Amino acid sequence: MRMLNGKTAIVTGANSGMGMATSAALADMGAVVIMLCRNEKRGKEALNQLMEKAERKLDLMLCDLGDLSSVNTFADMFRAKYERLDILVNNAGFISLDRQITKDGFERQFGVNHLGHFLLTLKLADLIPCGGRIVNVSSGAHKTGKIHFGDINLTKGFNVIKAYSQSKLANVLFTRELAIRMKKRGIAVNCCHPGAVATNIGISRDTGFGKTVTGMLKPFFQTPEQGARTAIFLASDNDVGRITGEYFYKCRIARSSSRSKDMELARRLFEFSEELVEYKSSLSRP
Ligand SMILES: NC(=O)c1ccc[n+]([C@@H]2O[C@H](COP(=O)([O-])OP(=O)(O)OC[C@H]3O[C@@H](n4cnc5c(N)ncnc54)[C@H](OP(=O)(O)O)[C@@H]3O)[C@@H](O)[C@H]2O)c1
Repeated sequence: MRMLNGKTAIVTGANSGMGMATSAALADMGAVVIMLCRNEKRGKEALNQLMEKAERKLDLMLCDLGDLSSVNTFADMFRAKYERLDILVNNAGFISLDRQITKDGFERQFGVNHLGHFLLTLKLADLIPCGGRIVNVSSGAHKTGKIHFGDINLTKGFNVIKAYSQSKLANVLFTRELAIRMKKRGIAVNCCHPGAVATNIGISRDTGFGKTVTGMLKPFFQTPEQGARTAIFLASDNDVGRITGEYFYKCRIARSSSRSKDMELARRLFEFSEELVEYKSSLSRP
């Protein structure tokens, strides 16, 4: 582990579960941590809880990753306030049994877990200096995933496994493609599977549906602090700076699906995502 004094970090989905644990850990290493949250009330509650350690430097900023105009506004506000971004942890995640859509009309799991983070990352990429880190929190669920280019919003035959695994495969493919495009700049881009972790994932924020099942599973799952270890490691460990484009589990490079290593697929998804979010990146393939 290294000290992160003078570094600026963004953690998405910072008000709950592993995002909150990651924010606390990076702040305890000395980084200024921008907690990207979509809901002001939940964001403030988390901020107040983390500020119980007064020496932490935390800043709450609002952004809904399921609304591309909100992502664009956040990027502009961040640029107005901060000159650089050393660490970006794309942690926020959403899973749902029923098919929901984002403000822009995308299936919500793909829209939030992949497209929101895709646009956020590209819009801030030029602020990341040599030695910077990008960490994408994926999942072992990517292994059953396919990218359904012909029906990316899963209008036919939607099910939660198909939707969540598509979004998490997109996280790994984005990691690998971005790593190639950012390698010359000395930025390490990696992703991870946290394992099974007792968080609020899958619990409806409106109705609380899912709370009972999650509560029952809690004793068998890791705590958010344990689950966040690999993301924290990728964001802060000195040696990781030399590794890019990899998929980690338990702080080690792990096996990912063969589809997640298909670099033609990764390029295709990157270009397809640029069209969907209507933003052409200046990061080209070498
Ligand atoms: N828990 C596990 O077992 C597990 C396993 C594998 C991978 N993962 C991955 O780990 C990551 C962290 O999840 P977690 O388990 O810590 O879940 P969590 O406790 O539910 O936290 C998810 C965070 O994402 C935020 N979020 C959801 N939709 C958003 C949006 N549209 N815009 C901005 N933020 C949004 C949530 O904000 P609100 O509270 O406002 O909704 C919350 O802060 C996710 O990427 C997940 O896919 C988790």
